[in-house]
Amino acid sequence: MRSVLIAGGTGLIGTRLSKLLSEQGFEVRQLSRDPRPDALYPTYAWDVDQGTIDAKALENVDYIINLAGAGVADKPWTQVRKRLIIESRVKSNQLLKRQILAMPEKPKAFISSAAVGYYGDNPSDQWVNEDVAPGKGFLPESCIAWEASIRSLSETGLRVVGLRVGIVLSTKGGALPKLLEPMKFGTAPYFGTGRTWYPWIHIDDLCRMFLFAIQDEGMQGFFNAVAPHPVRNRELIRTTSQVFAPRAINIPAPAIALRMILGELADAILTGVRASSGKIQQEGFDFQYPQLEAALQDLKANIKAK
Ligand SMILES: NC(=O)c1ccc[n+]([C@@H]2O[C@H](COP(=O)([O-])OP(=O)(O)OC[C@H]3O[C@@H](n4cnc5c(N)ncnc54)[C@H](OP(=O)(O)O)[C@@H]3O)[C@@H](O)[C@H]2O)c1
Repeated sequence: MRSVLIAGGTGLIGTRLSKLLSEQGFEVRQLSRDPRPDALYPTYAWDVDQGTIDAKALENVDYIINLAGAGVADKPWTQVRKRLIIESRVKSNQLLKRQILAMPEKPKAFISSAAVGYYGDNPSDQWVNEDVAPGKGFLPESCIAWEASIRSLSETGLRVVGLRVGIVLSTKGGALPKLLEPMKFGTAPYFGTGRTWYPWIHIDDLCRMFLFAIQDEGMQGFFNAVAPHPVRNRELIRTTSQVFAPRAINIPAPAIALRMILGELADAILTGVRASSGKIQQEGFDFQYPQLEAALQDLKANIKAK
């Protein structure tokens, strides 16, 4: 049986990915800072700050996926929080790299999440592929450091893939439940001018993409993990309210108010690009949910599971 170790596997993406991989016949293990005794999968402890890891986690493992990192949009971007956002990602990759270098029998591939935040902001219609240079601001800066630490895993001799993940749509966490909150009270606010591009992806397509990256032995480097039809924020809100709360009224939430409330963290919702899925499609990946409305309808129909 092929085995996969998922670092940060207890989170939103990791929980769904663990289920998919175990349904596909993989032996799934997780790495967590705080392994729970009732965990569904064998879970091993690590401490990214202290640089310690339970070596049993990596014994005879075939694939390593790293999803670990402090939440980017969970708390205000103080200097301390910014450092944690970067260090939790960079140091976790460095720790896994040291561990892999010491292994006599190496795994086959290392796959990591990255983020479309790499590209910063571009409200134009220009499609953004993987060759476009990083943007400006904290998100791109943190992604540059993160990606350098992913790239450096290739020194272990492993095949390395980085998925630049877009806005993951799931009813279990991430952006969607936050968008749905005001809709319960009859309003569906869009942000600023509503023209910011939102390169979204259905959580199941993203998890299938991690599986694809495991199975495609020729795949390496960075890929945008976004649906083929990104939408602007106003369209995202309009379609989401049509599906989940048809009576909610679309109203603008002015950018200036968002910046006053959220500070620099407002960048997380006021910046985006029209990221292209062309490279991963050329690699052979097929999307189950290329269109936003069908993705949202599926999530609504399976609200307890996804
Ligand atoms: N969700 C999205 O829309 C989205 C978009 C773009 C990129 N991504 C990236 O994809 C990855 C997974 O996202 P997700 O939504 O599944 O995130 P998540 O739900 O926040 O899960 C991330 C996991 O990382 C671990 N973690 C948290 N803080 C940590 C720290 N300081 N040091 C080490 N580990 C820490 C936690 O596991 P334990 O508590 O068990 O240790 C947590 O379960 C992240 O790198 C994220 O930046 C996500």
